[in-house]
Amino acid sequence: MKIDLAFTPLELEKKDLEGRSVVVIDTLRATSTMIVALENGCSAFIPVATVEEARDLAAKNFEFLLAGERRALPLEGFRLGNSPRDYRSNTVKGKTVILTTSNGTRALLASRRGAEIFIGSFLNLGALTQRLLDAGRDILIACAGEKDLFCLEDTVCGGAIIERLEKTGVPISKSDAAKAAKVLYDNCEGDVYGALCDCEWGRYLEGLGLGKDVRICAQIDSSRLVPVYREGKIFLDR
Ligand code: MLT
Repeated sequence: MKIDLAFTPLELEKKDLEGRSVVVIDTLRATSTMIVALENGCSAFIPVATVEEARDLAAKNFEFLLAGERRALPLEGFRLGNSPRDYRSNTVKGKTVILTTSNGTRALLASRRGAEIFIGSFLNLGALTQRLLDAGRDILIACAGEKDLFCLEDTVCGGAIIERLEKTGVPISKSDAAKAAKVLYDNCEGDVYGALCDCEWGRYLEGLGLGKDVRICAQIDSSRLVPVYREGKIFLDR
């Protein structure tokens, strides 16, 4: 099983996605939030690239919830932001959510050439590892990054996935990027919450009073859900 990793969505244009399982990671906070929302009964997400596109789609589908952020702040006129705490059961149960975020939705849209696309975070590490083994394909880990630049938290999460896969004993060959991600994860010495608090975006969220979101996004294996991104929607297929 070959594992490669893209540090930013821009790299995906140069990566071989065909025939691969792609894992999209936006640790702080989009993919973590999606998993919390689906745990709380949300039916599906529709990721879109721009605020205007999200507004237009919501105008045609009044029953959908409009959600998103820029610079981590909720958008004017949107029903939800991108905090996992926004997605309580009494808000999202049975609902479809239109979502646009600064980097996470861009990474999703850039991953569409993949054979199968999974939503990854620290919350679903174990279940995701099993799903990747079941799929049996080579893997491309797609980090959302920050404005097409490297971000530590997504790469460390990618390294955590690699560690889990290696622990299963399945034969794995890592690209240089995948090797680097594993080294960065090992460097955390198991303190994922500390790593998320110490990265640039984690400190930025803390500065906005959103430190509780960082703790939620560090809850390793708190979910057994592995959402897929297929035909324009993110949902649970199992
Ligand atoms: C992103 O897409 O860059 C993040 O999810 C932003 C956030 O913290 O909501």
